[in-house]
This record gives sequence, structure tokens and C-alpha cells, in this order.
Amino acid sequence: MTGDKSSATSQHMDKRRSTFSGKLGYVLAVAGSAVGLGNIWRFPYLAAKYGGGIFLLTYLILMLTFGYALIVSETALGRMTKRSPVGAFQTFGKKMPFKFGGWVNAVIPMLIVPYYSVIGGWVIKYLSEYLRGNTQILARDDYFTGFISDGFGVELWFLAFSLIVVVVLFAGVKHGVERVSKVMMPLLVILAVFVAGYSMTRPGALEGVKYFLIPNFENFSWMTVVAAMGQMFYSLSIAMGILYTYGSYMKKDVDIEKSTTQVEIFDTAIAMLAGLMIIPAVFAFSGGDPDTLQAGPSLMFITIPKVFASMGFGTGAGIMFFLLVLLAALTSAISLAESGVSTFEDQLGIGRHKATILMGVIMILFGSASALGFGVLDFVSVLGMSILDFFDFLTNSLMMPIAALATCLLVTHVAGLNRVIEEVEQSSEFKRKKLYCFFMKYLAPICIVIILLSSIANVFGWITM
Ligand code: TRP
Repeated sequence: MTGDKSSATSQHMDKRRSTFSGKLGYVLAVAGSAVGLGNIWRFPYLAAKYGGGIFLLTYLILMLTFGYALIVSETALGRMTKRSPVGAFQTFGKKMPFKFGGWVNAVIPMLIVPYYSVIGGWVIKYLSEYLRGNTQILARDDYFTGFISDGFGVELWFLAFSLIVVVVLFAGVKHGVERVSKVMMPLLVILAVFVAGYSMTRPGALEGVKYFLIPNFENFSWMTVVAAMGQMFYSLSIAMGILYTYGSYMKKDVDIEKSTTQVEIFDTAIAMLAGLMIIPAVFAFSGGDPDTLQAGPSLMFITIPKVFASMGFGTGAGIMFFLLVLLAALTSAISLAESGVSTFEDQLGIGRHKATILMGVIMILFGSASALGFGVLDFVSVLGMSILDFFDFLTNSLMMPIAALATCLLVTHVAGLNRVIEEVEQSSEFKRKKLYCFFMKYLAPICIVIILLSSIANVFGWITM
């Protein structure tokens, strides 16, 4: 019995340690997991809300310093230990802090995927409305609010999205989906360039372009930094153990520095493109209404339909856009859920089917709470936030900084910077070695302490988000 189990596990482990087919294969896989709703839905609404250009500037600086150092560390630790986060931490020690460090990383995707699927459900709903030709109806001012406050409707669309995710995990056709998405991704970029071009040339849109691209220091607040840092973790899929797992599949000859840079450029380019589609449209179609800039999670669903309703072929564009976004969302949700499933398999020693069911149950419980939080459960507020916003805050502003701190401490105090450097140097020269050490020793811990203190201050209402 035990023998069976362990041979099954080791078989499973061997299978999982198959490697990516080459340098490009690695970059594409990581970029595929990085590009998702984070770029298209989350980045523009945060940029709109937290000061436009100043948010963008903060984001770029953090990404090139802190984000860069963390991606390199996680990837190198994964490749060095050949383990996903829980195992990677435990190769350095079995005591409590190591367990905690691994688990905090591993639990985050399990908490993100439920509310991610709620947004995925909104995308399916909009796609279905475009398919029925309701282009003008979707562009009405109160359409979105009406939709999400009808809790059971939202719940059904959420379940539809989750069902696709769970079925793909069961059927094990994840790679099929990824192949489709590799074709669709370039299409998404082309379509986004067109939509951004259209939206930026509407009368009044220029104000929006300026708001998004030119930093205005008057708009700066601590929450700009907190939001930018949370978004950086989210969008690049860092501080949640994912890159340990990807690193563990990576061959020794892939240049960690170069692939990190490529992924960062690609991910940021798509986020900025989404910003250029959505923020100028707020100024052109909602008159730069400050309330709309503050709209939060609903921003994409309010402005994009207005853009489509105003142009020729709007219905076709709407179908294309939401279809492509849906695919980007599905691939991301599948990898997030997959990471939960493999953690359960490895750590609880249960089979793939049981692990998938367990992940499905978690998705449905937390996801339904988030979906209904705008409707029948709208009286529930956790720390002044809706349930969906709360899960987003909990993971991005509290847990991810802690996970990042765990990685920093593992690198600086346990594994040692030198081991990580050695790992990187196995494949190539480490050009930014000095900067890397500086970021890991000083910058990263300071950033993390700032974000944690601000988040806690926010919870107690000392500062507002
Ligand atoms: N980065 C993804 C996005 O921008 C979301 C995400 C976070 C993700 N962590 C992940 C996707 C892990 C896949 C795997 O939408």
C-alpha cells in the first residue's frame, strides 16, 4: 500500500520534472501564465484609481528592481531544488519557519483562483451578450451595476467559468488549451493595438492619455505604492510559488536573467496597451468623470462597451475582444488551479482526481461568496470591502508581501546569495549581480515592510485605499 503510493508519487514527480523544450518554450510558458486578467482588467483600473502616470512610474520602478530580483530568486531556487515551493523551502530545513514559508506561497493561488473565476464569469457574460448583438445595451450607464447586483446571474456565469477550468484539469488537456492560447495571444495583441488606437483618437481622449502616461506628483499617496506593488506580484505571477515550479522545469542552459527581462517587457507592454484602451476611453466617453476613474474592478466592463458601441463593427469587435480575454483568463485560471492541485497531490499524498475535486470545492465556496457579494450577500462587508475586494486585498496586499519576505529571507539568510548567484551563473554571466544583491539585501525588505505596514494601517482605517 505504502509502496504503491510512494511509487505513484515518484512517478508523478518524475513526470512533473519534465523540462521545457527550450529557451523560447520557457519564456512562452512563463509569459502565458503572466498575461491574463491582471494585465487587461486589473492594471487599468488600478492605474485609473491610484493617480495615472504616477502609478505607472511607481509600477515600472518596482518591476525593474524588486520584481526583477524576486523573479530571478524564485526561478533559481526552483531550478536548484527541483521542487515546487513547499518542497523547495523544506530542502533547506524541516522546521516550522520553512513549512510556513513554503505554505504561504502555495496557498495564495488557491485563494486567487476563486475570485479570478468570478471575473472570468463576467467576461463570459459579456461575450454572450455581444454574441446576441446587445452591443448598445451593454454600453448603458447602469448596465454593469444591474448585472452584478443580480447575484444568481453572476453565480451562474461564475460556475460556467469554473466548470471549464475543472473539466480541463480533469481531462488533462491543459496543453491543448495552451496551444490554442499561443495562437490567440498574438491576435489579442493586434486587436488591442487597434482598440487602443481607436480609443486614443476619440475627441477628449488625449486628456486620458496624458493622465495615464505623465506622472503628476500631486496624485501620489502611499496607497499608490501599495497598489503598484500588489499589482506587480499579481501580474508577473510572483510571490505565490509559481516561479519555483516553473524554475524546477527549467533546463540548466536557459539564461535566467534574459528570460526574466523578456517576460517583464512582454507583460508590461500588454498591461500598458490595456491602459491605453481603457483610460482614454474614460475621458472620451465618460467625460473624465472622477467617479468613473474610481470605478475599480468594474472599469473595464463599463468603458470598453462604450468604445465598441460607438464604432462600426462594434459587435464583431466586442465578440473578438471578450473571446480573446476569456482565453487569456482561462489559461491563467487553469495554471493557478493546477498549482493548487499539484500542491495537494504532493503534500497530502492524494491522487490527482481527489486533488482536483478538493480544488473545485474551494473554488466554488470562496468564488460563490465573491460572486454573491455584490447581490444577495451585499450586506456582508469584510473590513469595509466587498467579499471579492477582500480576497483581492488579502492575497495581494497581505499574503504576497509575506510570501516575498519568506523568499528574501530564504535567499539572504539560509541558502545564501552566493548559491543563487552560482545557479544563475551556470547558464550565463550574471550581469546585474551587484544590483541583485543590493535589491535582495536592502530594497526588497524595505519595500515589503512598507507595504505590510500600509496594508495594516489601511485595515484599521488609519489610511484609506
Ligand atoms: N499573472 C496573471 C494575470 O496577470 C494572474 C496570475 C497570478 C497567474 N498568478 C498566477 C496566472 C499564476 C497563472 C499562474 O492575470
